[in-house]
Amino acid sequence: MLRHFFCAYLGIPLVAAMLVAPAHAADTIATRVAMCGACHGQDGRPADPTVPVIWGQQENYLYKELHDFHSGQRNSAIMSPIVKGFSLDELRKVAAYFAAKPWPALKVNAANAAAPQASVMCKACHGQNFEGGAPAPRVAGLSYEYLIGAMNGFADGQRTNNLDMPGFMKTLTRSERQAIAHYLSAL
Ligand code: HEC
Ligand code: HEC
Repeated sequence: MLRHFFCAYLGIPLVAAMLVAPAHAADTIATRVAMCGACHGQDGRPADPTVPVIWGQQENYLYKELHDFHSGQRNSAIMSPIVKGFSLDELRKVAAYFAAKPWPALKVNAANAAAPQASVMCKACHGQNFEGGAPAPRVAGLSYEYLIGAMNGFADGQRTNNLDMPGFMKTLTRSERQAIAHYLSAL
């Protein structure tokens, strides 16, 4: 009893102190995002190819996705609970932190293939070299597995946090999407 009393008593000011502690922005963010490396790669290369690269991704895009996981506009059984632990203001800093890192070269087995016809229209938003730009993400050099998952997710109506992408993906056949995903993954 007595011990519980003291723990509770001592606990309150401690928690209160943590809540009002001034944020050491850089430190705090770097410390809090250390866990992201478990899946997104300590060196920016995810071990599991269904996990996207976030190092060097477009900052606006990173923030929008973190925001969408937070609000439920984009659903992921993994990411949604993780981002709930951050405020939107912190997520802006998280986005800036990863955007500032260099894009890591992934090991690519596919030899550079000729650009599929349909990939030309993607450049209007994703950039001449698919390097992205506000608001579209970089898609060059993401893994085939992640790209095809994202493209099929838009086409099948599982990913709905953008108005244009579902329509574009629906106009392509499954094999056209596969060809584009192969092409982009080898860039
Ligand atoms: C347990 C593994 C895991 C951890 C830990 C994890 N992620 Fe993820 N992350 C994923 C997976 C899987 C996806 C793909 C989700 C999907 O498309 O459904 C993803 C997607 C993302 C995306 C979207 C990228 C894109 O190209 O659309 C961002 C941004 C992101 N994660 C940031 C983070 C940050 C920041 C942290 C740490 C605070 C983190 N993740 C921790 C597995 C993880
Ligand atoms: C009108 C502009 C526009 C065009 C054209 C366009 N996209 Fe996108 N695309 C976007 C935007 C914006 C997003 C981010 C959606 C979001 O908010 O999650 C996106 C997201 C994506 C993603 C998800 C990336 C990730 O990290 O999860 C892939 C893959 C993609 N686009 C591929 C393509 C391909 C392939 C084409 C051409 C066949 C294409 N897009 C054409 C604007 C465009």
